[in-house]
Amino acid sequence: MRRVGARGFVWGAAAISAVAAPYCAPALSNEVGRRLFEPCRACHALDPASPPMPGPNLFGLIGRTVAGDPKFDYSPVLRSARASGRAWDRPLLEQFLRDPEAMFPGMWMTSRPMPDMAERRALADFLADPKSR
Ligand code: HEC
Repeated sequence: MRRVGARGFVWGAAAISAVAAPYCAPALSNEVGRRLFEPCRACHALDPASPPMPGPNLFGLIGRTVAGDPKFDYSPVLRSARASGRAWDRPLLEQFLRDPEAMFPGMWMTSRPMPDMAERRALADFLADPKSR
């Protein structure tokens, strides 16, 4: 096992299990996605009934306009993306996960780039599933 990052999250193991078991990919990638979402839970909820958090609620993200949580006060860069009518789809989400700050310079979210494509896919699968909580 390989530990990377200050919080000791095991990114390496998650990536390996995502690519090593093609026959049970859907269930497994969801489990991997769930694990990858754990650090995000400090700031984001997926339950529409959740009380306010430090970050916007991510329920129903795919198909929603960027900066689309009506209860959240977004940064100027995200508000201008919303004003341009940009909406979240899978390619945009995976590109965002790769390097959030590169897509929205100056956004109010400190997050590490996610260089591994299998991890980005698994996390995007998890976020795109309306049943994920
Ligand atoms: C320390 C708190 C924090 C963490 C941890 C965090 N975020 Fe965020 N996130 C935010 C904030 C704050 C915003 C709004 C940023 C702004 O307004 O510029 C945001 C915005 C977003 C958005 C855009 C939402 C929208 O409504 O358009 C997505 C998607 C997102 N985060 C995903 C993630 C994912 C996935 C992770 C974990 C890999 C994560 N975030 C980790 C605080 C956080």
